[in-house]
Amino acid sequence: MEIKEMVDGKRHQVQYDQNIAGFFHDFNIHTGRPELFAGYITGHCLKDKEVSSGETYGIAADFGCGTGWLSTRLAFDGFEKVYGIDTSPSMINQAMDKTPSYLLKTGRVCYHVEIPLDILGRCDLATAVHLHYHFNTKEKLRDDFFGVLASLISKNGEVIMIGCPSKNIRNTPDHFYSCIHMDDIPEKIACQTLSINDYADQQGYVPISCLPDFRVEDGTQLKVVFSIQDLSGNVRKAYLTDTHWNDDMLESVAREAGLSLIRRQELSWRNHPGSYMAMHFRKL
Ligand SMILES: C[S@@+](CC[C@H](N)C(=O)[O-])C[C@H]1O[C@@H](n2cnc3c(N)ncnc32)[C@H](O)[C@@H]1O
Repeated sequence: MEIKEMVDGKRHQVQYDQNIAGFFHDFNIHTGRPELFAGYITGHCLKDKEVSSGETYGIAADFGCGTGWLSTRLAFDGFEKVYGIDTSPSMINQAMDKTPSYLLKTGRVCYHVEIPLDILGRCDLATAVHLHYHFNTKEKLRDDFFGVLASLISKNGEVIMIGCPSKNIRNTPDHFYSCIHMDDIPEKIACQTLSINDYADQQGYVPISCLPDFRVEDGTQLKVVFSIQDLSGNVRKAYLTDTHWNDDMLESVAREAGLSLIRRQELSWRNHPGSYMAMHFRKL
């Protein structure tokens, strides 16, 4: 499928077929990202609960749960009930397959393609890890992403989203990088870049790291290249379309949806500082 055409929300979701679900399972194991993110999130939740030991953590919703690694981990680390929600049946199948069966049988973890209405306003924690890129207009980001997260949490609940800091888009760890279409590069930047055509792939996408620094416009459709290298040096790649949102835009759109940013934390992947970031929100 021509990536430049993949601009509507449905196409963003359609990307997550069986091949991509399998790839991301392996990608997560190879990069160890789940340990970094889950360690950070559950560490934060534990810290807040230390004051009253014995307290349980209640309900968590893992919005855009993908292969289910975080839903499982939240249940392991003490949440009474975890709802993994993902629009991709292939991702949900992968999650069901990888989640220990006792967690599924006891109902501690369950997966849904749509949000069950009875959890609205009842979640102590709602997470969204690498999900916001799939809301490709400001309205969808406000209503269908932040608005949904706000509707999930209870009065004192917390939202934690994880993504990549927009300021580091040109400087990513080896396992992924972002490319912008030639048509979306500001003219003055394109003019400063010698042999720009040599950097472009067949579809006209240029790695952002090959360009001088500039602010990528909110809402730009980027092609993101993910790679896994195994111990024999074999490389596997996957390509996804993501929507670029600058961090200041995320904060202001969240506020429009009734969420206030209470904490922002950059996360280092191995020796690569600021590879990822967590944003914490509470209801206004
Ligand atoms: C980049 S993956 C991240 C998955 C997982 N959170 C992780 O970090 O491994 C994005 C996931 O969001 C799901 N997704 C996309 N749009 C969605 C929506 N509107 N509602 C729920 N899930 C969605 C996709 O199917 C995909 O599994």
